[in-house]
Amino acid sequence: MAGIPRQRLDTSTPHPARVWDYWLGGTDNFASDREVAAQIVEVMPDLPINARSERQFIGRVVGMLAGEIGVDQFLDVGTGIPNAGNTHVVAQKINPAARIVYVDNDPIVLIHARALLESTSEGATDYLDADLRHPDPLLQAASETLDFSRPVGLMLMGVIEFVTDDTLALDTVHTLIDALSPGSYVAIASSMPSVGMQRAVDLWHARGGAPLVLRSPENLTRFFDGLDLLEPGVVSLPQWRPDPLTDYRDMEVYQYGGVARKG
Ligand SMILES: C[S@@+](CC[C@H](N)C(=O)[O-])C[C@H]1O[C@@H](n2cnc3c(N)ncnc32)[C@H](O)[C@@H]1O
Repeated sequence: MAGIPRQRLDTSTPHPARVWDYWLGGTDNFASDREVAAQIVEVMPDLPINARSERQFIGRVVGMLAGEIGVDQFLDVGTGIPNAGNTHVVAQKINPAARIVYVDNDPIVLIHARALLESTSEGATDYLDADLRHPDPLLQAASETLDFSRPVGLMLMGVIEFVTDDTLALDTVHTLIDALSPGSYVAIASSMPSVGMQRAVDLWHARGGAPLVLRSPENLTRFFDGLDLLEPGVVSLPQWRPDPLTDYRDMEVYQYGGVARKG
């Protein structure tokens, strides 16, 4: 268990990383996670599609940044349990010298972090057991692997919803953005409000899940203030620069996102 105090691994309440893993077809989850995940799908059947769309979005964004733009450093906060197409896998396939720092605050992710640390010999990966809500120590630790005087791709995939206070969330994200050099990129994806999504969130909270908030596309766009938002802006994830392998292009998936450049 990679030095994790057992009391930190709470298997009695559902955890976001494990429920997400279940919807992605993974096996790193417990009965409490599976039970809630199945109940949520009853009120919001598309939630596994949100999760899969977000994984595909990660692939397209990292592919674009590492490929056509040439970003070779990534800070991926709210990593989740390792899955196919993790940031370092996509980036290092394009540029074996790419350097990636992963961050999550769930002990289950730390347990599985070894899979995130399987770097190429030319590049580097690191994993930080840290909290988005404390960006300064996070940046300090990340700077041991990443050179913040050069461009970095900041990935915030499905994580800002867990910082429920809008002011705190905006301040936190902008503390991270302030640390990035010009030419860096910021990619954010987050869950959108709908009747079904709100029912899912209410059920999640009733079952003791970590508090989360749904933000409208307009509200999500505010996180990119001061940056150059790339086309097509903040959209339902399958509409963001789809490629031939992008699924669900004919659906509105209630997981939105965008990518912006720091000038
Ligand atoms: C919905 S999952 C998304 C996983 C992955 N980024 C993806 O898109 O497939 C959200 C992840 O954010 C993590 N998380 C939630 N709050 C966090 C916080 N305050 N600091 C760091 N990670 C957090 C959870 O543990 C979970 O692994």
